Amino acid sequence: MVQHITAPRLGGRPFQSFIIAALILLVASGGGAQPSPGQGTPGPAEGAAPAKKPAAPGPDKAADRELIDRMIILWAQSKNTWMKNKWLGIPTLQNPVDAWVTQEIIFEVKPDFIVEAGTAAGGSATLWATILEQVNPNGRVITIDVVDAAAAARRVPVVQRRVDFLLGSSTDAKIVEEVKRRVAGRPAMVILDSLHTREHVLNELRSYAPIVPVGSYIVVQDGMFNGHPLPEGWGPGPYEAVEAFLQENSGFVVDRDRERLMLTFNPKGFLRRVK
Ligand SMILES: C[S@@+](CC[C@H](N)C(=O)[O-])C[C@H]1O[C@@H](n2cnc3c(N)ncnc32)[C@H](O)[C@@H]1O
Repeated sequence: MVQHITAPRLGGRPFQSFIIAALILLVASGGGAQPSPGQGTPGPAEGAAPAKKPAAPGPDKAADRELIDRMIILWAQSKNTWMKNKWLGIPTLQNPVDAWVTQEIIFEVKPDFIVEAGTAAGGSATLWATILEQVNPNGRVITIDVVDAAAAARRVPVVQRRVDFLLGSSTDAKIVEEVKRRVAGRPAMVILDSLHTREHVLNELRSYAPIVPVGSYIVVQDGMFNGHPLPEGWGPGPYEAVEAFLQENSGFVVDRDRERLMLTFNPKGFLRRVK
């Protein structure tokens, strides 16, 4: 219900007299409305330079970057933010901003397969499957992990319809071969969210790049480690893996438009195949 608030009525003769007296005083003291030019305002003296407007504060890119980085660090290091996220009740270790952008990519690419390295509890696989099902009736998610912690996810109907679980290392030759056998040349998109070391992610990039066709993507998650902008000390991670991969593979470019929402955990992490 809309609550209407009625203004108290101020009226009566003594009040009106007070208002008139106050207006007279205000005008007499020069504090009234500014007269418009031509109404007796003293203009600038003949030949004098017009008064300069104070400079508007311009965009301070460095300060903006610092603010965003601080926000990412605060968000990433908190135990009360992304770590508690769930999708359909399943723990989902995703930054919702990046998940939103990934959703946009899935919609655009409409891949037959999303190959995800790093299942954990299966929340992200459940999320990707939920989106993929809307845009590709044949779409499937293949998710890979070294441990099986996704029992609850397996009870979710969309997971039962759409998700295949592989147990093993995402860089194990047998797992890579099994993924390629299942994809069988159909269009895939890849999301890397397993072990966030440079060596492992670079191996994943090399292993799964061949299943990604032109126009599709590899999403390399969590490039934020090691000074990007999370503190150094982690050692080279996904960010460094991407830089090394791009040196040796000119078929992919970093799509920085996918970082437009600013609060990304995946700097340089949205790789689009261009040739
Ligand atoms: C960040 S969690 C994945 C989170 C999940 N994608 C989500 O959003 O809920 C990383 C996962 O990678 C798995 N992992 C670690 N090393 C791996 C490897 N060599 N191959 C595949 N998965 C691995 C871990 O067991 C862990 O479950």
